[in-house]
Amino acid sequence: MRYALLTSIASVLCVGPLASANPTSKHAKLASYISKEGQRSIVGITENLGGKGSKTPGTAAGLFIASPNMANPNYYYTWTRDSALTFKCLIDLFETSDQDYISRKELETDIRNYVSSQAVLQNVSNPSGTLRDGSGLGEPKFEIDLNPFSGAWGRPQRDGPALRATAMITYADWLISHGQKSEATNIMWPIIANDLAYVGQYWNNTGFDLWEEVDGSSFFTVAVQHRALVQGASLAKKLGKSCPACVSQAPQILCFLQSFWNGNYVTANINLDTTRSGIDLNSILGSIHTFDPEASCDDSTFQPCSARALANHKVYVDAFRSIYEINSGLSNGSAANVGRYPEDVYQGGNPWYLATLASAELLYDALYQWDKLGKLDITKTSLAFFKDFDAAVKTGTYSAHSSTYKTLTSAIRTYADDFIGLVQDYTPSNGSLAEQYDRNTGVPLSANDLTWSYASFITAIQRRASVVPASWGEKSANVVPTTCSASPVTGTYQAATSVFPTTTGCVPATSIVPITFYLTESTFYGENVYMTGNISALGNWDTSSGFPLTANLYTDSDHLWFASVELVPAGTPFEYKYYKVEPNGTVIWENGDNRVYVAPTGCPIQPSQTDVWR
Ligand SMILES: *[C@@H]1O[C@H](CO)[C@@H](O)[C@H](O)[C@H]1NC(C)=O
Ligand SMILES: *[C@@H]1O[C@H](CO)[C@@H](O)[C@H](O)[C@H]1NC(C)=O
Ligand SMILES: *[C@@H]1O[C@H](CO)[C@@H](O)[C@H](O)[C@H]1NC(C)=O
Ligand SMILES: *[C@@H]1O[C@H](CO)[C@@H](O)[C@H](O)[C@H]1NC(C)=O
Ligand SMILES: *[C@@H]1O[C@H](CO)[C@@H](O)[C@H](O)[C@H]1NC(C)=O
Ligand SMILES: *[C@@H]1O[C@H](CO)[C@@H](O)[C@H](O)[C@H]1NC(C)=O
Repeated sequence: MRYALLTSIASVLCVGPLASANPTSKHAKLASYISKEGQRSIVGITENLGGKGSKTPGTAAGLFIASPNMANPNYYYTWTRDSALTFKCLIDLFETSDQDYISRKELETDIRNYVSSQAVLQNVSNPSGTLRDGSGLGEPKFEIDLNPFSGAWGRPQRDGPALRATAMITYADWLISHGQKSEATNIMWPIIANDLAYVGQYWNNTGFDLWEEVDGSSFFTVAVQHRALVQGASLAKKLGKSCPACVSQAPQILCFLQSFWNGNYVTANINLDTTRSGIDLNSILGSIHTFDPEASCDDSTFQPCSARALANHKVYVDAFRSIYEINSGLSNGSAANVGRYPEDVYQGGNPWYLATLASAELLYDALYQWDKLGKLDITKTSLAFFKDFDAAVKTGTYSAHSSTYKTLTSAIRTYADDFIGLVQDYTPSNGSLAEQYDRNTGVPLSANDLTWSYASFITAIQRRASVVPASWGEKSANVVPTTCSASPVTGTYQAATSVFPTTTGCVPATSIVPITFYLTESTFYGENVYMTGNISALGNWDTSSGFPLTANLYTDSDHLWFASVELVPAGTPFEYKYYKVEPNGTVIWENGDNRVYVAPTGCPIQPSQTDVWR
């Protein structure tokens, strides 16, 4: 039943017009694929949502797993970025559907569960820090039962709070315009305010990029931070709150954003040592996630129809033509399979579904903007992009009535559709969207059923159908200060205490459950703490394969070590004990009997154990 209702909402929203008035069978096949895969994507997203999704045993309500894949790679965690982007997609779906389907109510329950789950996560101390000074908000990923992740990782990542603020503000705005201002004020604002404070305080610090690989300043992060603060200032005003950091920092961030433009394309990462070209999906995603349907083709905010974004799109797509075998024969002006960045080697360095989809989405956004503005401009910067569709075209302004406008936009629409067509070619018959597909054969690779792949499918085909999200206020926030400055504001942070009355529960954990162990013990630099016990996750009493605790939360006043042990068999009692390894390799056991813990089953929330060294 639920499946059927979700299907109906998908078919209402996702089927765009045929690309041409004269559909060839290629176009008809694409339309049929889009309708089917749109429905499949809604199902794929729902299956990965904690609280209801069949692929999420043990996952707290409101958390998305990145993918059900538990090994090579293990994506059975919740990421702040992926979840915020996917919820933004769902919130837009909820808001742009004007018919009152029952599934809209379900969507709203999902959204409210998300809000509540994030209120909890904001307050979870983790290796990036705590909520006290905001630092903990930069943690990129958590265990599926709201526990912190203790392993080594590329952290902090500073896009998460901004993306989460944007998703939540979108819902808060909806509440305000539907007579529920008190919920926006009492429940949403305290959570949003923490994330805005984080951006206002930390935007001028380096952090890891969205691919979790390089520590520097990242275009995507800075672009979404600017957007979040613009929206934050406007929400604060509506609620009679204030966000002085939003107002003072947004122009500074916009000023900094300009440094990523190198004259020809966006250099995705700066303020770091790298030999990479800087050509990166990062910048395409930056443009589509700051797309404003009310905006002009502004270069300052890298709007999809801006000369900069189009020039960058060409450089980006062209960079993959000769490196992937499945692109052979796809020359300039033809859609191509694209990945994160040309130098990528992760899992073989292949095309990503969400990359090829984003390349289409940026073009649909641009087409929407040109139609709205009734013209398109070709400048020296964007000329090479347009020449791929008409070798003779010249710089100038072309009104929507001109034949040049019609020829170009029609060719660009076909170009965009052809990116979707490539995704169609490499979608397996069951409709599953993995993370990547093989650069030589097109076979799906890496994590299966990636939540973000499905969300990317939905947003791309919505833009294709001219279904666009609400404006974020770009028009009043696109003026770049004449000189850049950086005077970040130290924020104040408080755990949100009032939450939506949510449905709890989940698909019960029956096989494994992640448990967090906290241990208080004073140690010196170079001394490390481990635990072992009579389960394989803890190394079966072998001190050479014990589970490491991390000192990331250790302070002078709080001698705290912790470990999130993931592969604990649910419902099983086990024994364990802590030991230290000295710098010279000597093992020192704690005293006393073996400790015993019984792993919970069902839907445990933050299962943990707090111990003191004996
Ligand atoms: C901080 O902001 C200044 C001014 O825009 C910029 O020059 C600098 O690179 C920024 N540094 C980081 C790490 O964001
Ligand atoms: C394709 O475009 C690139 C720039 O992205 C250019 O260097 C190259 O010469 C073009 N190739 C052809 C065959 O026109
Ligand atoms: C769908 O097909 C792919 C590729 O054949 C396969 O790897 C995957 O396991 C299938 N997914 C499901 C849910 O059956
Ligand atoms: C937030 O975390 C702190 C420290 O762990 C805890 O004392 C406090 O009760 C938490 N607040 C909420 C609202 O959960
Ligand atoms: C581990 O220890 C617990 C608690 O003493 C015991 O119930 C369990 O059977 C032991 N497991 C194994 C595999 O020995
Ligand atoms: C190793 O270091 C510890 C102190 O950290 C010391 O007590 C012990 O004697 C050392 N053992 C050897 C074999 O050097």
